[in-house]
Amino acid sequence: MSTDFEADGVDRARLQRLLERERATFAERNPRSAAAYAGAAHLFGKVPMTWMNKNAAGFPVYVDRAHGARLTDIDGNEYLDFCLGDTGAMAGHSPAPVVAAVTRRLAELGGATTMLPTEEAATVGAELSRRFGLPAWSFTLTATDANRWAIRLLRAVTGRDRILVNSYCYHGSVDESLIVVGPDGRPRSRPGNVGAPYDVTSTSRVAEFNDLDGLARELAHGDVAAVLMEPALTNIGIVLPEPGYLDGVRALTRQHGTYLINDETHTFSAGPGGATAAWGLTPDVVTIGKAIGGGIPVGAYGLSAELAAALAGRADLDLVDMGGVGGTLAGNPVSIAATRATLEQVLTDEAFAGMIEVATAFATGVRAIIEQYALPWSVSQLGARVEYRFAAPAPRTGTESAQRADPVLEDYLHVYLSNRGILMTPFHNMALMCPQTTVTDVARHHEVFAAALGELLA
Ligand SMILES: Cc1ncc(COP(=O)(O)O)c(C=O)c1O
Repeated sequence: MSTDFEADGVDRARLQRLLERERATFAERNPRSAAAYAGAAHLFGKVPMTWMNKNAAGFPVYVDRAHGARLTDIDGNEYLDFCLGDTGAMAGHSPAPVVAAVTRRLAELGGATTMLPTEEAATVGAELSRRFGLPAWSFTLTATDANRWAIRLLRAVTGRDRILVNSYCYHGSVDESLIVVGPDGRPRSRPGNVGAPYDVTSTSRVAEFNDLDGLARELAHGDVAAVLMEPALTNIGIVLPEPGYLDGVRALTRQHGTYLINDETHTFSAGPGGATAAWGLTPDVVTIGKAIGGGIPVGAYGLSAELAAALAGRADLDLVDMGGVGGTLAGNPVSIAATRATLEQVLTDEAFAGMIEVATAFATGVRAIIEQYALPWSVSQLGARVEYRFAAPAPRTGTESAQRADPVLEDYLHVYLSNRGILMTPFHNMALMCPQTTVTDVARHHEVFAAALGELLA
C-alpha cells in the first residue's frame, strides 16, 4: 500500500541513496536470479504467481534448496529464513517427518489423489479437535478455500446474507472480505480489488478491529450471518486485541445470532491450538491452512457440534458438489499424510514452546535496537511471530496500521537484510520462527538490523 506517511526522523534523501546502493549490491550478488527473471518470457509478470513481484529489489531471488530455517538461492547465497513462506513453512522447510510421510504415500503406497478417504484423515480430525476444541472437521485445498466454505455454510444455516470482517483484514481472495472503512468512515471496496463480482458493500459489513461499538452498530442490522476474523490481525502488521475485546466480540455475536469464525491461518503461531486455545476463545468455526501441511497445500475448517448437526439435517443443501473454490483434490492422501506428520511430529507442544522462546528473544532484541536509535516504532509478538511497525504506540486498528506503512523504508530494510543473508517476508516486517530457528540466528538478524539502522541514522 502506498501512503504519504514517512517514518519520523529518517532523512529521505539518504534513505533513497542507500536503497539504490543496496539494490545495486543485490543485482551484483544475484546474477543467476536476475537471468532467470529476465528469461521467464512465458510467465505472466515473469513470475509463477503475480505476488512474487512484491519484492524489494526489482526481482526475486530464486530458490535452489531449503531445509529447516535455511534457504540457498541459485547464486549460492545462503539465508536465514524468517519469512518461511509467509507461514506456509512455519514447520521449517522440508521437515524430515513430513518428507517421510509424503514419500511413503506418494512413492511406496501410491495414490496422490483418489477421491477416496485414507484412514488417517480421522486421526488428523481428532488432533485438530484436541487442539482447537471444535469437534467436526473437514479438509480443503487452502485457507482461502476453508474460509469460502465456512461463509457458504453459515449463510445457508442462518438464512442471512452478510459477512462482517475487520478493516484491512486478509483472509485470502474471499470476495466478501475485500471491504475497508474509508476515510469518511463509510464502508467501501478495498483499494486495488481485482474484478469484484459485485459491490462488496452489498454483501459485507466492516468494523475496525478493537472497536466493539462499531461492531455492535453493524450487527444491529440483524443481517450478518458470520463475523470472519483473525483473533489478532496479522496481515497489516500485527494488531493485537485489547483486553476484553475478544470477549466482547463473542458476547455481541451471540446476542445478535451471528456465528463467529476464527481464521487461525497465521495466528496458529500463538501456540499448538492457535490463539483459540492460547486465549481460551470459543468460536463456532475455526479455519486454518498453510503451516498445518508442513509445506504441502492443505486447509481445514472445524465446526461446533451444534453447527455440524444443523448442517447435517439440511437435506436441501448440496454438500456433495459445493466447496469454497472447488475441491476435487481436497483431502487428498498426500496432504492428509503431510498434515498428520506435521501435527504429530513437528509442530508439537514442545516445538511451540521453543519457537516462542526464540521469538521472544527476537522481539526483545529488536525493541532494544529501536530504543537505542530512539525511533518511534513498536514491536508486536504473537507467539512464534514478531513484527515491527513504524508507529508507537502500536496501532489499535487495521486502518491505523495501514496509515503507517512506509514502502521505501521497508524496501531498504528488506534488501539490506537480504544482501547479508537474512530473509524477511516480502509483505511488511514480519519474522517467523520455525522449530530449527535458534537464538544465534536471531542474534545475527539483530547485528544486521542494527547495522542497517546505523547507516541510515548515523
Ligand atoms: C489469515 C489468512 N487467512 C487466509 C489466507 C489465505 O491463505 P491461502 O492463500 O493459502 O489460501 C491468508 C494468507 O495469507 C491469511 O493470512
